[in-house]
Amino acid sequence: MLVSATEMLKKAKAGHYAVGQFNINNLEWTKAVLQTAQELNSPVILGVSEGAGKYMTGFKTVAAMVKAMDESLGITVPVALHLDHGTYEGAKACIEAGFSSIMFDGSHFPLEENIAKSKEIIEICHSKGISVECEVGTIGGEEDGVIGAGEVADPEECKMIADLGVDMLAAGIGNIHGVYPANWAGLNFEALDAIQQKTGEMPLVLHGGTGIPDDMIKKAVTLGVSKINVNTECQLVFAEATRKYIEAGKDLQGKGFDPRKLLAPGTEAIKAKVKEKMELFGSVGKA
Ligand code: 13P
Repeated sequence: MLVSATEMLKKAKAGHYAVGQFNINNLEWTKAVLQTAQELNSPVILGVSEGAGKYMTGFKTVAAMVKAMDESLGITVPVALHLDHGTYEGAKACIEAGFSSIMFDGSHFPLEENIAKSKEIIEICHSKGISVECEVGTIGGEEDGVIGAGEVADPEECKMIADLGVDMLAAGIGNIHGVYPANWAGLNFEALDAIQQKTGEMPLVLHGGTGIPDDMIKKAVTLGVSKINVNTECQLVFAEATRKYIEAGKDLQGKGFDPRKLLAPGTEAIKAKVKEKMELFGSVGKA
């Protein structure tokens, strides 16, 4: 069932758990995430970066695939199809393509410009029943060529963006996209607490979910994080399982070269990773 992320995140905030956003890259990824969510009776958010959208030949292709797959697989749990770190133009293209949720990332603009553009996107989205995520304070690491440095958002700025009526707010608290460096200082819980106190009921989003220790994830959830984004970790387990299959020479046995066989271990690995994260985030059985 394709829905906006508004209700599932309100429920998550009230119930003190988080909904996972898992970024998708192709059909196998989408199938693995949807099947796992259904199996565990968990709400889920499918994240699509602009780069991944381009890779899959465009947002229209993605929306058509996700809608059709949701139906063919008989998925009954709430699923949001969400643009991840959208530009102004990307956000408009996804609204047009039929996404049910949009992240407009204006965090690299001066605050006034971020506010003005966020406001416009929120108005368009809400008139169509689409949920919106906005961001304050760049999140560190690299995503589609954009590099930040584990910044920490200012609580007052967070409140200003929250008051525009966004449905979820991404605020940097020392988190970074990709694998964390060995000398990473960890999440800044003081900042998170200050942000939550200023923004009240607003579901907060934790980007860069890959590699954050379980105890930090749990603490972040108690402090108001209701959506956690995971991308790199699924890519790593997919690559590892595929490498093992090839290194074991399985592609050379019988019809082991068949893509349906070749990509199966990686797909299973994504399923296992998504299950592990849903259990950690507490969203199992919450559909
Ligand atoms: P990771 O790749 O670090 O898991 O981050 C995902 C993310 O935040 C997508 O927006």
